Order: sequence, then C-alpha cells, then structure tokens
Amino acid sequence: MSDFDPIALGTRAQAMIEMLASISADREKLTRLYLTPEHRRAADLVADWMRSAGLTVRMDAAATMHGCRPASREGARSSRRLLIGSHIDSVIDAGKYDGTVGVVAGILAAEELQARGIELPFGLEILAFGDEEGVRFPKTLIGSSTVAGTFEESVLNMTDSAGETVRNALLHFGCDPAVLRSEGLQNADIVGFLEVHIEQGPLLERWNEPLGVVTAIAAQSRHRVRITGEAGHAGTVPMAIRHDAVAAAAEFIAMVEEVARNGVKNNLMATVGEISALPGAVNVIAKEAHLSLDIRASSDEARAQAAETIRGRSRQIGARRGVVIGIETVHQKPVAVCAPRFRKALASAIEAVTSRKAPELISGAGHDGLAMAHLTDIGMIFVRCRGGISHSPFEHVAIADLGLAVETLIRAIVEIAREEAA
Ligand code: GLV
Ligand code: MN
Ligand code: MN
Repeated sequence: MSDFDPIALGTRAQAMIEMLASISADREKLTRLYLTPEHRRAADLVADWMRSAGLTVRMDAAATMHGCRPASREGARSSRRLLIGSHIDSVIDAGKYDGTVGVVAGILAAEELQARGIELPFGLEILAFGDEEGVRFPKTLIGSSTVAGTFEESVLNMTDSAGETVRNALLHFGCDPAVLRSEGLQNADIVGFLEVHIEQGPLLERWNEPLGVVTAIAAQSRHRVRITGEAGHAGTVPMAIRHDAVAAAAEFIAMVEEVARNGVKNNLMATVGEISALPGAVNVIAKEAHLSLDIRASSDEARAQAAETIRGRSRQIGARRGVVIGIETVHQKPVAVCAPRFRKALASAIEAVTSRKAPELISGAGHDGLAMAHLTDIGMIFVRCRGGISHSPFEHVAIADLGLAVETLIRAIVEIAREEAA
C-alpha cells in the first residue's frame, strides 16, 4: 500500500465538510433537516462528489444517496458489495462533523482506492442517509431503516411541527413513498456496513488517541409525552386545587433525571429535550404539556427497566396532581453489537495507520448502524473530537485526525477484501 499523508487527505476531507456546512436553513447557524431544501442541496453536492469519484449515483425512495462502484474484474459477476456511509442531516444549530465525516470519508476512500489501482472482489456502495437525527419527524433512521428493509408504513403519516406528513415531504422531495417497503437490500448481497463517525464524547481525547473501534451502539428509545391537566386563571385558582400540566411536567423531568442518575453502571441516560405548553400564555394555567423523552443504555434490559420505572413513577405523579401523563413510544432499537470480524479489521487498520493499539469504546449516541444491523454486520470507528463536544457549533475535529480516519477506512476495506478472499 502506498504511503499516505494524513494532512493532505484530511485537508481534502475538511474542504468537503466546509462545503456541506455552508448548506443550512439558517444563515447564522447550521440546521439541515430531513427532506428540506437544504437536504436537497446537500444531497446534490454529495451526488456530484460521488460522480467525480467514479461512482454511479442513485437516490432511493427515502432520499438516501447511493454511490456505487462494481467489483473488480475477477469479482465482476458478484453483486456483493460493502456498504459505507453516514448521514447528511443535522440537529438544529449543529456542528459540521456529525455524520458528514462518514459520508466524506466513504467518498474519499472510494476515490483513493480507484486512484491507487486497488481492486476489490466486491463492489462498494457509499451511502448518504438523510434522517439519522430524527429532528424533523418523531421517527428517526428513516433512510437506514429503508435500506435495511424494516421501514414501517405507519411512519408515512407522522407529521412535523408544521403538520406536514412524511408522505408529503417525500413526494415534494421527488421520492415515491409507495415503493419504500421494497427498497430494502438483501443480506446475501451485502458484505457489511462500515461507518466513520466523530466520537461525540470525551474518551479518545482523554486517552490521547485519534481513533477508536466501536464495540456496540447503545439501546435507545424515543417517546412522546403528553400531560393533560386543566386550564384556569393564573390569578384566581387556588394553588391547592390546580391541575397544572406544566408544574407536573417539571416534576416529571426531575424524576426522569433521578431515574437515569441511578443507572450509571448501565450507562443509562434519559433526557427531556423538548417541551411546549398549551395554551401557552403567561396568565393561564397550562392545560397540556408536550415533552420528548429519550432513553439509552448499554443493555436492552436496563433501557426497558428504566422506561418501566419512568412509567410507574409518572402514574404516581399523575394521581397525586390530578393530571394524566401519557407516554407513547415512537422509536425503539436494541443494542447493535459491532461484528467481531469488522472490529478486528478496523483495529488492525488503525494500528497500521497510527502505530498504536486501537482503543475500544461503546457508542452512547445513536447511529445509522442501529438500523443497518437488522440487514448485515456492522463495523464502526470513532474519530476524536475536541472536548468531546457535539450537537453544537463548537464541534471540532483536527485535520490530521480526519486524514487518519480516511486512511484507516481504506486499509480496513482492503483487509476485509483479503479476509473474503481467504
Ligand atoms: C443522534 O445523534 C442521536 O444519538 O440521537
Ligand atoms: Mn450522527
Ligand atoms: Mn447527531
């Protein structure tokens, strides 16, 4: 394998990441939600890069961009391919690197393999998913679930905050929702799925390591919480007889935090990240509060147990305050364990590139791999990010680390090809 220059590779990656970062709904901050005009522009840019890298491009019915390169001559009749990718949607007021690093790394790896004349016994398919964050609609991982063949029809009727359904948003984007269920790939055709992603946590930086191998992605669930109380006049209804939905929400939130703090050994995390009140006026006791709830843990049992505890404690809060607390589950994924053969290939690639033993870590953040694990084996590496900061405009990755990540991906692909041939 040729020598490589991490700064040169990283500089190419950084330039592409900056171009994607300039595509936003907001001039002041980076916001690129699923099936928006910004998503469209980002997808078009990615398609251009894919074509320049010699890949054949198609967009599927969930707006995922696929850039394909066939197997080399001796494997030409094989339809088997290695999937590599990540996402191009973002949270609101996002950083530049979450998701984009994996898409850019995949395209650069395909380009470099071509430029270095490296032949592979399987094809490559680079994927740019549009809905890893799940910020616009209550559902998440719509793109990767579609590729994995697990997309649920009922999701089409879910709405965003403006009342637009997933179905209509797809139609406006130029996708055909009627064929979503048949877009799933076949396991027999797929070698596996690899993803490069920023760590979004502090461990690699603390260990002074640029890259790490992910062992598993934590179990997660998302819920919509509706608290129904009784509206009233803020100046006349005595405090003792109120059924205040916002006050109940405050107690609910504090309870959720306490439950999660008691589950540290299972990496239990529970978060209420959104809240709104109805009717939402300064002098009206709220009749309704709407909240989001996100629960994660390193085991399915710990996550399910926490969800059960939260439901039980909610019933107590509701009974005491005379309000009804309804909790609806809108998304649930078990732990996705990374395949030992990919962990091995990625670790040996990291070791070849950094001359250091590859550290291992679990991902608390959700990734497209959660959905892709239903289709095929998954493998993932994390790239160090400054201060462990993510989902923030202060997200930052060093150029050299980007270069090391792209080179690691290239070498892991070659290693997997060697294993396949053995
Ligand atoms: C996505 O970043 C998630 O972990 O929710
Ligand atoms: Mn991400
Ligand atoms: Mn994210």
